[in-house]
Amino acid sequence: MTNILTHWDEVYQNKDHAQVSWHQEHSAISFDWIINITHKDDAVIDVGSGVSILADNLLDKGYTHLSLLELSPTAIQTTQARLKKYTNKPNFYNENILDFQSNTQYDLWHDRAVFHFLTDEKDRQTYLGKLKQYLKPQGYFLLATFAPTGPKECSGLNVVQYDVDKITRLLGADFKLIKTTAEAHPHPNGSTQNFNYFLLQKTSDQ
Ligand SMILES: C[S@@+](CC[C@H](N)C(=O)[O-])C[C@H]1O[C@@H](n2cnc3c(N)ncnc32)[C@H](O)[C@@H]1O
Repeated sequence: MTNILTHWDEVYQNKDHAQVSWHQEHSAISFDWIINITHKDDAVIDVGSGVSILADNLLDKGYTHLSLLELSPTAIQTTQARLKKYTNKPNFYNENILDFQSNTQYDLWHDRAVFHFLTDEKDRQTYLGKLKQYLKPQGYFLLATFAPTGPKECSGLNVVQYDVDKITRLLGADFKLIKTTAEAHPHPNGSTQNFNYFLLQKTSDQ
């Protein structure tokens, strides 16, 4: 994990943000699912938010308790500068999700293309411990990962691909699956990358 911050920060320093493989013009699935299951004053966190447009779309919709957590200082600063026109500003956390500490419990935890980089079982369990600790009872976990038919690596890093069986087995009885869908994400270079989206609800009451 020691070089992971440098790795990601160099990506955002050196690449055109509209040309990175995960770039989206609009985070259509995430946005639609979030606005369908949450209220505008719910606490929503986007983990590994990068420079995603999802924040702008939720702020435009009137969301008032948005938090953005991201490892790369360059990505956080870029997002902060872009969002400065909003009065309903998000909370920014420039840190590693594996070290995250919070006084807040969230109604919805969004992760697109971050969890799948955790190839180490210990890191996955740390992440899932944070998720369970900081998600409200009945709160939602909206996760997007590469599908088994998708890439095996991204940005030079290995990933773990997930389908519904694998993710529900990993999350166990603390979460129930609400819905899932597949997406062929258009890479800026013209190819596509297969993603799976999972909407899960925390079942435990702590
Ligand atoms: C593939 S990008 C996806 C960005 C964004 N979620 C999106 O959909 O546009 C992965 C992001 O996760 C961030 N990241 C990777 N590992 C992280 C960690 N352990 N904690 C916080 N952020 C992390 C990276 O800096 C990068 O911005």
